[in-house]
Amino acid sequence: MSLECFDKEIYELTNKELARQCEGLEMIASENFTLPEVMEVMGSILTNKYAEGYPQKRYYSGCEIVDQIETLAIERCKKLFNCNFANVQPHSGSQANQGVYAALLNPGDKILGMDLSHGGHLTHGAKVSSSGQFYESFFYGVELDGRIDYEKVRHIANIVKPKLIVCGASAYPRIIDFKKFREIADEVGAYLFADIAHIAGLVVANEHPNPFPYAHVVSSTTHKTLRGPRGGIIMCNDEEIAKKINSAIFPGIQGGPLMNIIAAKAVGFKFNLSDEWKIYAKNIIKNTQVLAKVLIERGYKLVSDGTDNHLVLISFLDREFSGKDADLALANAGITANKNTVPGEKRSPFITSGLRLGTPALTARGFKEEDIQIVANCIADILDDINNIDLQLNIKAKLKELASKFTIYTKAMF
Ligand SMILES: Cc1ncc(COP(=O)(O)O)c(C=O)c1O
Repeated sequence: MSLECFDKEIYELTNKELARQCEGLEMIASENFTLPEVMEVMGSILTNKYAEGYPQKRYYSGCEIVDQIETLAIERCKKLFNCNFANVQPHSGSQANQGVYAALLNPGDKILGMDLSHGGHLTHGAKVSSSGQFYESFFYGVELDGRIDYEKVRHIANIVKPKLIVCGASAYPRIIDFKKFREIADEVGAYLFADIAHIAGLVVANEHPNPFPYAHVVSSTTHKTLRGPRGGIIMCNDEEIAKKINSAIFPGIQGGPLMNIIAAKAVGFKFNLSDEWKIYAKNIIKNTQVLAKVLIERGYKLVSDGTDNHLVLISFLDREFSGKDADLALANAGITANKNTVPGEKRSPFITSGLRLGTPALTARGFKEEDIQIVANCIADILDDINNIDLQLNIKAKLKELASKFTIYTKAMF
């Protein structure tokens, strides 16, 4: 029976979401469009198999085939990041990070990460996350110029003496200097853990420096710039650490791995290893540069005055309106972005004075620099006259037409 006949409600809602994804412009920096081939294997019979454990060391029989699948995923992941060990089982980026902490720390140990309000992630020690509840968390941030001051990080690390330093971010538009982080970690005897969830797709294309050989452990999501299925991965070079990570993920915090997702990760990695991938990653950078240039020319202040990666952060500290106002105005025009705190923030995290915009999803659709120029000017037009609903609706129609030239999916994959 088709899904349409079996469950009309979910069928129709999925089709509505397909229309939303196709007609609007996705500029949330952490979102992307994965390949139909990745979705094909995600929706496959591989979802039926229990395979607790790791290849050749399972707690269930009948794992001969899924062992080969997981081994392929692991080998491709190692090749991509140029490292010796990979665990491809984490169900998400957050679970990957939880696994890293469980492997390397004891409850109550000190960790030093980037402040959430300065661009870090919840899992880097925020008090509402288990990372800030099980471990004693301390933070570094960015300066008013929007950049990490590594001497300040060194200073904080020397006072705190953490057992682990987390580097990596959710909203940092500049290159992260992993070498400097490692020097600081060595100085205080800490592990260096790089969470490259946002930039992994750029790292594997050499568009951002690789955290290896500097980081002791690296984690990532597979669904952001990497454009694979939703999930997490952990990599390292040290055999003892790898053993601890494997035990921390299973049986530590997870049960049976999602074999359909692990297979989809392998398919995604195959794409990441291709020459086409290098072009895609280069195009992300080119497109973000154009976005930044137009916004600056149109009088908008960008945090750190520009970008080196896939995202820009606009600061509205000099404006009457907030990040929330900008987010809503763009949403009215079919552009999905997200409000974000900025250095020197004066508003609450629910209102904010900033907006985060990314280009990975539009680049995946095939948007080139000239298209991004149009989009960036539309964004500036909307922000210039933020309460003008008619203008927002006019721009929505214009952008829907532009979007229709860049087909992503012709059906909702069922
Ligand atoms: C830097 C960073 N790490 C980890 C995560 C968590 O990933 P997930 O949403 O898959 O748990 C995110 C997600 O936004 C992130 O930006």
